[in-house]
This record gives sequence, structure tokens and C-alpha cells, in this order.
Amino acid sequence: MYKYSIIFKIKEFIKKVLFRYTPFGKPSYTYNIEPCQLSKLTNLLDELKETEGNFAEIGVARGQTTLFLANHIKSINYLQFNKNFKYYAIDTFSSFIKDDLNFEIKNRGKKLQELKGFSYNSFDRWKYNFKDFDFVKPIKSDCSVFNYETIAPLKLILIDVDLYLPTKKALEKVFKYLIKGGYILVDDVRDNNEYDGAYQAYMEFCSENNIKPSIIGSKCGLIKKE
Ligand SMILES: C[S@@+](CC[C@H](N)C(=O)[O-])C[C@H]1O[C@@H](n2cnc3c(N)ncnc32)[C@H](O)[C@@H]1O
Repeated sequence: MYKYSIIFKIKEFIKKVLFRYTPFGKPSYTYNIEPCQLSKLTNLLDELKETEGNFAEIGVARGQTTLFLANHIKSINYLQFNKNFKYYAIDTFSSFIKDDLNFEIKNRGKKLQELKGFSYNSFDRWKYNFKDFDFVKPIKSDCSVFNYETIAPLKLILIDVDLYLPTKKALEKVFKYLIKGGYILVDDVRDNNEYDGAYQAYMEFCSENNIKPSIIGSKCGLIKKE
């Protein structure tokens, strides 16, 4: 007993020193998407909890948003409302597709250095990290060619693949399998930055389908299928 209280006191002392005198105790925001996007996704999941259909996150990186939402789904026992519900996590798990990058460089004036990233990923490690969430189903695929019929019907979709071509192709392919009353959120819908391909794709898709663009926070395009 005495031994444990000494260990506790030492731990608290170390924490105090780290927090007060080093940067290690500083909280950090580790999400790629904004708080209002996370809350919108959580609220939409709740709004649609009794509606048949799945959720797809297209572009998951190391799974920060996946973990946040999977924890929400688990904490409210979402599957009691929707026992077949699945959370599909689609990614190449090996960064961007070469043709998509080349398109940004040749057609959109981008530089390769500003677009690189995500090559650390590993499908096996990702699956292992989410092994405790049975309803999370990782899929290794290029989102531009994936057959979304295999995961339909979809009621909520987050598209977060940054570049023009995969965002546009995913939007075009996935819309058919989105239920009426379902939603798509597109991240990085903000002009004049390295990932403004997502902005161009979202704006074009809305215009081609007579959808009024609607932005949540500073960079999230919303689409509701009427
Ligand atoms: C910005 S990250 C996703 C972040 C994640 N949604 C989150 O909130 O933490 C972009 C991801 O898109 C993936 N990606 C890029 N192009 C893709 C494509 N054509 N098909 C599938 N995934 C792609 C990358 O591998 C990367 O993991």
C-alpha cells in the first residue's frame, strides 16, 4: 500500500514538472478535420440512427476521425438501432495515386513537394489498430475505381482525399448509392490552397447536379440528397 502511494506521488511529481516546465504536457488537436465537422458527423449519425444504411469514410489516413466516430458509435450502442450497420474505411493505405498527383501538377499548377504525405500507412497495421471495432470494415482501394454497390446502401459519406480527380470521381460514383435523405461531407472545400482540388470537385459536382453549395465551418462541403 505504502509502495503504491510513493509510486503515485512520484508519477504526479513527474507530471507536474513536465506540464509546468516543458512543452510535453501541452494539449494538441490531432484531428485533420474541424470540431464542427466532427460534431456534424456525430449529429448526422444520430439523426439517421434508425435509417438503414452504412457510413463510408473515403480517405482515412491513420484513422483519427475513424477512431473518434467509432467511439461515438460504440458508446451509444448504435447497433441496437441498426444491427447491420457498417463503417467502411476506404483508402489506398499507401498515399495518393500517381495519376491523381500528375493531374494536379500538369493541370492545376501544383508542386509535388506540397502534395506528398501519408506514405507511412500500412493496411495490416490499420486493421490491427481497429480490431476491437467489429463494425469498422477497412477497404484497400483507389476510391476512383471502387465498386460502391458492394457497400450500399449508404446514408452518410465523408470524402477526404484532398485532390481533384479522386474527389470528383468518388462523388460521381457514390451519389447513386446514397439513400434519399442521406448526406455527403467533403473535406478541404476551400479555394486557393494546395488541396483546393477538393474545392473544385465539390463546386463542379454541385453545379452539374443543381445542388446549392453549403459550407460548414471553414472547409467542409455538405450535400444532402433530396
Ligand atoms: C487527409 S487524409 C484523410 C484524413 C482522415 N479522413 C482524417 O480525418 O483523419 C487523405 C487520405 O486520402 C487517401 N487517398 C488519396 N487518394 C486516394 C484515392 N485515390 N483512393 C483512396 N484513398 C486515397 C490518402 O492515402 C490519405 O490517407
